[in-house]
Amino acid sequence: MLATLETDPIFKADVLAGLAASPPAIPARWLYDQRGSELFEQITVLPEYYPTRTETALLRAIAPELARWIEPGRAVVEWGAGAQTKTPILLNAIMPAAYVPVDISGGMLRDEATALSRKLSVPVLPIEGDFTRPITLPEQVQGQAKLGFFPGSTIGNFVPASATDLLRLFRQDLGTGALLLIGFDRVKDQARLVTAYDDAQGVTAAFNLNLLERINRELEGDIPVDKFRHQARWNSLLNRIEMHLVAREPVSFTVLGQHFRLDAGQSIHTENSHKYTPESAGLLLSAGGWTPRTWWTDPAGDFMLFLAEAEAERFAP
Ligand code: AVI
Repeated sequence: MLATLETDPIFKADVLAGLAASPPAIPARWLYDQRGSELFEQITVLPEYYPTRTETALLRAIAPELARWIEPGRAVVEWGAGAQTKTPILLNAIMPAAYVPVDISGGMLRDEATALSRKLSVPVLPIEGDFTRPITLPEQVQGQAKLGFFPGSTIGNFVPASATDLLRLFRQDLGTGALLLIGFDRVKDQARLVTAYDDAQGVTAAFNLNLLERINRELEGDIPVDKFRHQARWNSLLNRIEMHLVAREPVSFTVLGQHFRLDAGQSIHTENSHKYTPESAGLLLSAGGWTPRTWWTDPAGDFMLFLAEAEAERFAP
């Protein structure tokens, strides 16, 4: 397909700049076109990919405690409305005043909002938009206390400097006095982590390689996708899993008429998934303007949920 007027100009700019960069790298957000989102849904139920099922079970286990920490009547704001099994567990536990999902994909958001408002007796007020930009909350919830919900360890897909900026933005979105319930994947055995991002059925490989197919589809690319292989690497210095697309042999291709070349073994870096300890998660939250109040983990210690509060800024200890 030829690049059309609908091709996102930021996708185009990110891909052209990312392929020309040294080392080549493309922001992970572009993994999620329709096919990528379907593949990610399949990843969440893979035997190797423990985070989704572990966080869901953890939420169920702590539901009674959440009700004690979070008083009724808060408006729940969820950034990225993809967690439709987890959200009802939270909403049923805490008696919220409203639910505000914020997501870039408006159509899906509205369908899910309708389904959710049928299931739950809570007003659902979706906002269509990019959660890395400031949002304006619906008027109905502006005077209400807020609870931000950011599950899935999505925070791990941001490098710490950007994660800090994002947390600060969330604080700005919700205001002083807000609470935040946020999921972090924990640092653990390297082999388990690598397997979680390089599954036996090859779903994560297909998810990663789909980025090249997307470039071919949307940006007039002629990338020979079969000359690349998926790789998940543990970076022990930065505590993160990195996804790469490694050239199996020297490869040349064009995207929107620009020529690119990779040597055999050279890679395009496509995603980071940072893993945290309780200490590093607490520090990240504090740096982002959120004071940790408590945290929970599953029996195996694989995943954690933190509850934090946007305290009034202090000018002295
Ligand atoms: C969305 N995000 C939290 C996933 C993760 O675990 O970092 C994305 C993912 N990439 C490969 N598998 C899952």
